Amino acid sequence: MRVLVACEFSGIVRDAFAARGHDAWSCDLLASERPGNHIQGDLLEVINDGWDLLIAHPPCTYLTVSGNAWFNVERYGQKAIDRIFLRHEALGFVLRIYYSGVERIAIENPIGYLSSAFRDPDQVIQPYYFGDPERKATCLWLRNLRPLEYRLNNDLFGAATAVEPNIVTRVSKRTGRTFTYSELEYKASMDHENRAHLRSKTFPGIARAMAEQWG
Ligand SMILES: C[S@@+](CC[C@H](N)C(=O)[O-])C[C@H]1O[C@@H](n2cnc3c(N)ncnc32)[C@H](O)[C@@H]1O
Repeated sequence: MRVLVACEFSGIVRDAFAARGHDAWSCDLLASERPGNHIQGDLLEVINDGWDLLIAHPPCTYLTVSGNAWFNVERYGQKAIDRIFLRHEALGFVLRIYYSGVERIAIENPIGYLSSAFRDPDQVIQPYYFGDPERKATCLWLRNLRPLEYRLNNDLFGAATAVEPNIVTRVSKRTGRTFTYSELEYKASMDHENRAHLRSKTFPGIARAMAEQWG
């Protein structure tokens, strides 16, 4: 199968499909972090090049709920207006992917604006459902693909695929408030420069499940 993993610089999903014998490619404006089939450039220029399956991780900077406060025009004026334009550009990019005509499509994004402006996701998953002990709610919008299967507990049908998420608790020195993070979130919060980059990589367990179930 010809598989395009779009908006992927890590190579994680691409390599999960390649390991199962597929002709798998990643595409990103950035170079691939590790060797493998990679198209460095604009996804929209290659999206109609005969792919059987397209898995896309479009940028979520302007689509997440956590950024909602920044869209308050009364409060932030022109900056908020600029953000509203960028939000709609980000939404347009997602719609171009979804309606590209590729037979099977999965679009991944956090909980956010897409649910109201586009439609509810077909599935919301967590990395720990698939063996990586992290919490990060991840939505999938699917076209001609079944939702990914996982098992939270051992049962009659098989062993659990889920593990316990690693939770780190910190008390703020300034406010005394308690925060809980998953380990990766915590590490990323300590590295302001690379925070978004670190948090954006797909978890290997989810990548494996995609390759096993959709490949
Ligand atoms: C949220 S990150 C996804 C990272 C991915 N989960 C991974 O493991 O590499 C979004 C990516 O989309 C890429 N991107 C943005 N616009 C693009 C475009 N028009 N064509 C291809 N990639 C694009 C960005 O460079 C960024 O790396």
